[in-house]
Amino acid sequence: MADINIAKSQIFDVGFLDMDIDPIIDLFAEIEKLKKEKNAIILAHYYQEPDIQDVADYIGDSLGLAQKAERTDADIIVFAGVHFMAETAKILNPGKKVLLPDLKAGCSLSDSAPSGLFKLFKEKYPGHKVISYINCSAGIKALSDIICTSSNAHKIVESLPGDQPIIFAPDKNLGAYINKKTGRNMVLWNGACMVHEIFSLEKIMKLKKRNPEAKFIAHPECEDIVLAEADYIGSTTGLLNFTKSNVATEFIVATETGILHQMQKNSPDKVFIPAPPNNSCACNDCPHMKLNTLEKLYLCMKYELPEIIMDEELRLAAKRPIDLMLKISAQYGL
Ligand code: 13P
Ligand code: SF4
Repeated sequence: MADINIAKSQIFDVGFLDMDIDPIIDLFAEIEKLKKEKNAIILAHYYQEPDIQDVADYIGDSLGLAQKAERTDADIIVFAGVHFMAETAKILNPGKKVLLPDLKAGCSLSDSAPSGLFKLFKEKYPGHKVISYINCSAGIKALSDIICTSSNAHKIVESLPGDQPIIFAPDKNLGAYINKKTGRNMVLWNGACMVHEIFSLEKIMKLKKRNPEAKFIAHPECEDIVLAEADYIGSTTGLLNFTKSNVATEFIVATETGILHQMQKNSPDKVFIPAPPNNSCACNDCPHMKLNTLEKLYLCMKYELPEIIMDEELRLAAKRPIDLMLKISAQYGL
């Protein structure tokens, strides 16, 4: 009990990593043991560090993770991702314990849309349906008609009649990309992902010249000037599948660098080059995703903390547009 109290205070006051972990224990083996003992499943996003991906039961993009979370019969869902992802898992599974190794793992895109401001924004556009990218808080989801992810955004938008006015939030880049693809004129909330806006078009063009055989692939959260140069645009799962099936042996990859681990694992003989940021730091590592570590994952499973706790009224309001997304996705076989 004292142990748990120490864990609680560490998590909420100063963070998990200051706790002592015996340096000789095999974290991979301990995590496997905890999974079995507690009937826990680890769901990880492709942007997690390689060690976490390697210990996960399922690795996927935001849609795949939400679908997996909806279907699991585990008692505990350990979400190796960011807060909105774990929150989505909790919204879908009120009876299960949902853990996030670091509660501070947020998302710049989600933070760009505070629900109070968004409510006022929405009031300016009567008659509009709201489609929100899953990278948003439960508060924004509750104000939305349908949720989408980067792998189903096109289909979700097309599920509404062509003359239906739409607000798309919070990612202006994904919204602009879908506007272009569908010929719609959705009103866009002015949000963006700090990682996907950091790529330097100038450096990418130089890299393409130096590697003329390489395919340039990009996530739709990137700016339109970057997307305009891409040979393929898709969600993280889409990008991974493209590298597996395409005959090219070199790829310049414009998304968070975590995905390169799976690309390299699946195609060990191919070469993957991270698209360069517009400065010399490692800014295409998501600082939020990378807050999770194997050590925090282990401690979180051991102490079953930090846990995602939700207000029931908010949960129900946020669930409705997620359920609709999952239903439409299933209709399209996504
Ligand atoms: P997907 O998981 O839909 O590819 O989105 C990437 C992302 O930025 C998640 O935070
Ligand atoms: Fe959010 Fe961007 Fe990080 Fe994804 S990569 S979690 S959108 S900040």
